[in-house]
Amino acid sequence: MTQIQPEMKRIEELRQLLKQASYAYYVLDAPTMEDTVYDRLYRELQELEIKYPELVTADSPTQRVGERPATHFTSVRHNIPLYSLENAFNVEELQNWEQRWRRQLTPSNPLGDVEYVAELKIDGAALALTYENGVLVRGVTRGDGVMGEDITQNVRTIRSIPLSLNFDGIEKIEVRGETFLPLEVFKQINQERQKAGEQVFANPRNAAAGTLRQLDPRIVARRRLDFFAYTLHISGMDDAGIANTQWEALELLQKMGFRVNLQHKLCHSLAEVGEYYQYWDTERLNLPYMTDGVVVKLNSFKLQEQLGFTQKFPRWAVALKYAAEEAPTRVEKITVNVGRTGALTPLAEMLPVQLAGTTVSRATLHNSDRIAQLDIRIGDTVIVRKAGEIIPEVVRVITELRPSDTQPFVMPTHCPVCGQPVVRESGEAVTRCVNASCAAILKGEIEHWVSRDALDIKGMGEKLVHQLVDKELVHSVADLYDLTTERLCVLERMGQKLAEKLVSAIALSKNKPWSRVLYGLGIRHVGSVNAQLLTEKFTTVELLAAAKQSDIEGVYGIGAEIAQSVYDWFRTPANQTLISRLQVLELQLATTEAPKAVGVNNPNIAGKIFVVTGTLPTLKRDEAKELIQQAGGKVTDSVSKKTDFLVVGADAGSKLEKAQTLGIAQLSEAQLLELLGE
Ligand code: IVH
Repeated sequence: MTQIQPEMKRIEELRQLLKQASYAYYVLDAPTMEDTVYDRLYRELQELEIKYPELVTADSPTQRVGERPATHFTSVRHNIPLYSLENAFNVEELQNWEQRWRRQLTPSNPLGDVEYVAELKIDGAALALTYENGVLVRGVTRGDGVMGEDITQNVRTIRSIPLSLNFDGIEKIEVRGETFLPLEVFKQINQERQKAGEQVFANPRNAAAGTLRQLDPRIVARRRLDFFAYTLHISGMDDAGIANTQWEALELLQKMGFRVNLQHKLCHSLAEVGEYYQYWDTERLNLPYMTDGVVVKLNSFKLQEQLGFTQKFPRWAVALKYAAEEAPTRVEKITVNVGRTGALTPLAEMLPVQLAGTTVSRATLHNSDRIAQLDIRIGDTVIVRKAGEIIPEVVRVITELRPSDTQPFVMPTHCPVCGQPVVRESGEAVTRCVNASCAAILKGEIEHWVSRDALDIKGMGEKLVHQLVDKELVHSVADLYDLTTERLCVLERMGQKLAEKLVSAIALSKNKPWSRVLYGLGIRHVGSVNAQLLTEKFTTVELLAAAKQSDIEGVYGIGAEIAQSVYDWFRTPANQTLISRLQVLELQLATTEAPKAVGVNNPNIAGKIFVVTGTLPTLKRDEAKELIQQAGGKVTDSVSKKTDFLVVGADAGSKLEKAQTLGIAQLSEAQLLELLGE
């Protein structure tokens, strides 16, 4: 042990440094360390932990993302139930609440002024976190308030939740708060889901709750959930004096290392609470997260204790909600859109209305079930809702205002674009056009193929793609590669120069790696992450096409539904023909082997196998790969026992984890350049 004492000390020192830097970044929003420095220290810690696995602790910053997806979540009983809050919708209802608690507390001897804490009500999902002797041991969802699900693995990935507390001497503490998705991240996730042909989340709350219940913690880690703590329950020590009020509790939570929403306010009257509520009614639209109201709490814990709880709610707190922005308008038309996956999506075209600062004239009606459920008809007056960044939706029909001659809406039996019969499989809500040569599907497929995360063909916008399909210049993504400047010049507003640029952009896309090609194929449920995972295991298209469904499902992070979709895709003759054409066209349908070294062989590099991952500080990944190859090294796309070095940049994911598991040496960009003698 004495031999490793200096390493133990260094490990401890590194953990402290990283913890502080992470706290400054994720909790205080005030970074103190440059990313590259953080990365270097993180790697140093990783290397030491690989060398001394017995020194790895659960609260080490390297231990946030678990290795294995869970198969299910266990139900657990909350030590103290998670109550919800009574709602009030205006200041009058708030006054009623005050009168009620005052009457109950001191019917004969009224209390004077009291203090309230007004907090923003964060629109996310409640979480209960248990720390034992300062270390996070459990994270549980609210569930029904009595029983929740143990999602500790996922909770650990949330960077603003400390794995250990900056506070000694507490045997057991439960901290509660709200996890939420910042609006920016919510938008991004929905864009990705749309691209992958998946249903988008209706609002950040659903997205946060859905993310928390993901079985694969790596997906959760990527989603960048955040957390605001709002309450604590201490046991196992004399907690009297630690916090006597909600205000002090919030201060204590901050000291312990939690992120607390800093907009809370100590109010000395309901009038002050009312001002706070008014102020945030408009100001909340400028916040980077969603709030749906204000939570008003009696500040004194003593008063809280005296008041206690009803069956469902604390008597000492109330949620003063903001009305979601809603407005009536009239449905003029119901049109049906056909997407890339062939899904028919009905859209309500409405008289334009102003909502949450924008003009809304269209709202998705999702599918025929939803239309039937709401019984929306052309000519109906409906209430549409839009709050903040949320996609506008029709919430209900004002049937009293329905004209006499309306008919229930029926989903078309034939595709509105190609006229072929549509199908709706039993158990599915979605109606689909299954005609592989439907122009709408083809347009969607090509738009997806040329998009940034797929083959990234610059200059190929939506309009151009539509023209190419309408003029029958392309019938599949493979046809793009047969386009010539002459053929392109027949299109509107297409000059010789632009056409030449496009042809070379298309040709350039042949260098895009196999993972992007797979993503570009637009197989259902195969977004860019899944494509990456699949191509790491199946390094050639032949291997993937021949794989059994169980082999595909065996890939870490790939579930049954995805596996089935991939398996079926490769069994469809039209798709097999497409793959053959792409092979002839020489697209990358295999993980590239390192080309023969062209530079001088560098003895540090020659013959060694490298994998490059993450964002490097100065080099593009492709540039790093090229330098390695020029020096005689080999670069592969996936980490295996044969890998000699993993070159790691920021936001490295699964490859880094795998390299850690296999004990593979890691290099920063600087170390790589040093090896290269650059
Ligand atoms: S206190 C016993 N404070 O709102 C009181 N709740 O409808 C517990 N929420 O499920 C709640 N922000 O998850 C409290 N600042 C805040 C909150 C908050 C959001 C959520 C909470 C609860 C729901 C109640």
